Amino acid sequence: MDRIRIRGGNPLKGEIRISGAKNAALPLMATALLTDAEVRLNGVPDLADITTMTNLLAQHGVEVTTRLSGKERSITVCGSNITDTTAPYDLVRKMRASVLVLGPLVARHGQARVSLPGGCAIGTRPVDLHIKGLQQLGAEIDLKEGYIVARAPKGLTGAEVNFPKVSVGATENLLMAATLAKGETNLINAAREPEITDLAKCLIGMGAKIEGLGTDHLRIQGVESLHGTIHPVVADRIEAGTYAMAVAITNGDVELVGAHHDLIASVIATMTQAGVQFTETPRGLRVKRTNGDLLGVDVMTEPFPGFPTDLQAQMMALMTTAQGASMITETIFENRFMHVPELTRMGASINVHGASAMVRGVKRLTGAPVMATDLRASVSLVLAGLVANGDTILNRVYHLDRGYEWLTHKLAACGAEIERLSEGAAE
Ligand code: EPZ
Repeated sequence: MDRIRIRGGNPLKGEIRISGAKNAALPLMATALLTDAEVRLNGVPDLADITTMTNLLAQHGVEVTTRLSGKERSITVCGSNITDTTAPYDLVRKMRASVLVLGPLVARHGQARVSLPGGCAIGTRPVDLHIKGLQQLGAEIDLKEGYIVARAPKGLTGAEVNFPKVSVGATENLLMAATLAKGETNLINAAREPEITDLAKCLIGMGAKIEGLGTDHLRIQGVESLHGTIHPVVADRIEAGTYAMAVAITNGDVELVGAHHDLIASVIATMTQAGVQFTETPRGLRVKRTNGDLLGVDVMTEPFPGFPTDLQAQMMALMTTAQGASMITETIFENRFMHVPELTRMGASINVHGASAMVRGVKRLTGAPVMATDLRASVSLVLAGLVANGDTILNRVYHLDRGYEWLTHKLAACGAEIERLSEGAAE
């Protein structure tokens, strides 16, 4: 299994191009199941999760074509010949976002059999809100032998779905399903993440009627059918936030090309308090420290527009060398502190009490062999490695391959001493 070796101490300097968002591209690819026509997505990142979604769609009979023009990768999906409405366990267990095929399949094909994803490293992550919402649109749903078996032979009917809890995936599934339901659907207490707005924009490009973009109330008028479109994938705000923190932790100065202030406003506000300066440039955002040391700040994760849970681990890494203390509270997932023991092994001072972690800044981190259990935890260890004394060897690199396109290249191009060690390579 590949590993990454980092020798800490180099400030990042230069520019980093932000990729298209993984978490936008995944639901966007699932729109193939809503139409006979081609949907072309520009700026899809080259990531393991995108490959998993490609394989899942191919299993349903969707034709997926990938093209590279210059640095931009586009994917065209065409669902004119759906041959199978089952999403098998072997694919769903690899990636929970596979459940996003449920709504589109049942809406357009009247049936779906999708494996229940099961728990994962960051929490139990049930899909009850997806199921209840689709039932409200008239789908009959049974749970059989580990599968969600959904049927709507006469199609779905619009309804009011009031989510008891904000869920990104459930909002996306219901939004896609409602575009083809008869009549009006109101999604209330919907998630407002930019990836949902991006999905709504693509669906509108396909002929869907959706109002309330960017708010917690989406109103959808169902249409008979959807057509094809060409859609650019929104920039990855989590990747942008991650690199902003990498720049800050190394005391560097980098322009994040393609990053948007509005997508990470809460992160910018928090990092500004911690002593990081963001300047808008014609191409994106320039990031550097204001002057001198980082300062400890308190952070609580929340649904958008709050501070994202997907940047909590990276923020914690940033706070390990800040002056003073920082209280980091995770409110979205119950088990998202798996990076704490590894950061501690690198010399960080962190105490966890329930959903909060108290980080006391230390002068220096030291390199160590580390491993993590999920994508964001893994990248937080890369950030720590960039500033640690000596070598950090990161194991289980496949987590990073799920969500960070060209990570080692992007960091090395800014002066980081980082390399990927292929299986069998000498340390
Ligand atoms: C999306 O996951 C993202 N994944 C996650 O990114 C992200 O952490 C999460 O949203 C929160 O922002 C994709 O977009 C592919 P949720 P999702 O449904 O949709 C509970 C990353 O690192 N819940 O908003 O699965 C759930 O357990 C990943 O890129 C229910 O109780 O998250 C959690 O506590 C990890 N019942 C909360 O809601 C449900 O039916 C929010 O989850 C659904 C969710």
